[in-house]
Amino acid sequence: MSLSALTLRTRKRRHGAEPIVMVTAYDEPGARYVDAAGVDMILVGDSVANVVLGQADTLHVTMADMVHHVSAVAAARPAAHLVADMPWLSYHLGEFEAVANGAALVRAGAESVKLEGGRNRLSVVRALLDAEIPVMGHLGLTPQSVLAFGGFKVQSKTREAANALVEDALALQEAGVYAIVIEGVPAVVGTMVTEALEVPTIGIGAGPDTDGQVLVFHDLLGLSNRKPAKFVRQYADLGSAITEAVSRYRDDVRAGTFPDDSEVYPTPAGWLD
Ligand code: KIV
Repeated sequence: MSLSALTLRTRKRRHGAEPIVMVTAYDEPGARYVDAAGVDMILVGDSVANVVLGQADTLHVTMADMVHHVSAVAAARPAAHLVADMPWLSYHLGEFEAVANGAALVRAGAESVKLEGGRNRLSVVRALLDAEIPVMGHLGLTPQSVLAFGGFKVQSKTREAANALVEDALALQEAGVYAIVIEGVPAVVGTMVTEALEVPTIGIGAGPDTDGQVLVFHDLLGLSNRKPAKFVRQYADLGSAITEAVSRYRDDVRAGTFPDDSEVYPTPAGWLD
């Protein structure tokens, strides 16, 4: 059994817990590799839009896309907790649809779901919890709000906006979420909201004081074609490694040196008689 939402809910650094390590994955090999690294949580993010499907934003991701990718990640049977993003419009049209869509993600293999928004989403959060589906919140630079925000812009830059974000976080906590992702806010706001909450915060571009951190697989590994955001730390350049390896394969094929004798099936006995 992997880490449960109930256990993760207690992971506050100020109570001596280790920071939560979360990373995204979108398919079986990706999930297998990140799970082998011993992360706590794997997020099947709707960032699949940007980093896998080549789209400019997450608004084009459908439930069918998410179910497809959650099933692939779940096939790795990770020890890490598997949380799935609820895509745009899968929880905006009412509680009934939200629960049906949350259940579809659970049936695909998710152990909890994440949705964006604060006080405007409480009825949906409660309905999902009522259906026994653990929920993670997501506040700050919520990518599904890109049109409403007028772009991907750092949020909560005024004291008023920061206080509103803390109010949203407290309301989500009160409704019963087990953790909240805080994205794209000044570090001081990441600290403020983390201090205000009893449930853990998981930051991405929210400074060093949150109770955990999350990065997108392709950003962390150098597989993304988008300009890295300020908060991204790239730990490998797998994109260059892939191009280099495939170039060597290309050269071997063109030179006639692939396959060699060790890479072919032998002639069946008696074939030449
Ligand atoms: O979809 C995603 O990858 C996310 C993270 C950025 C938190 O929601």
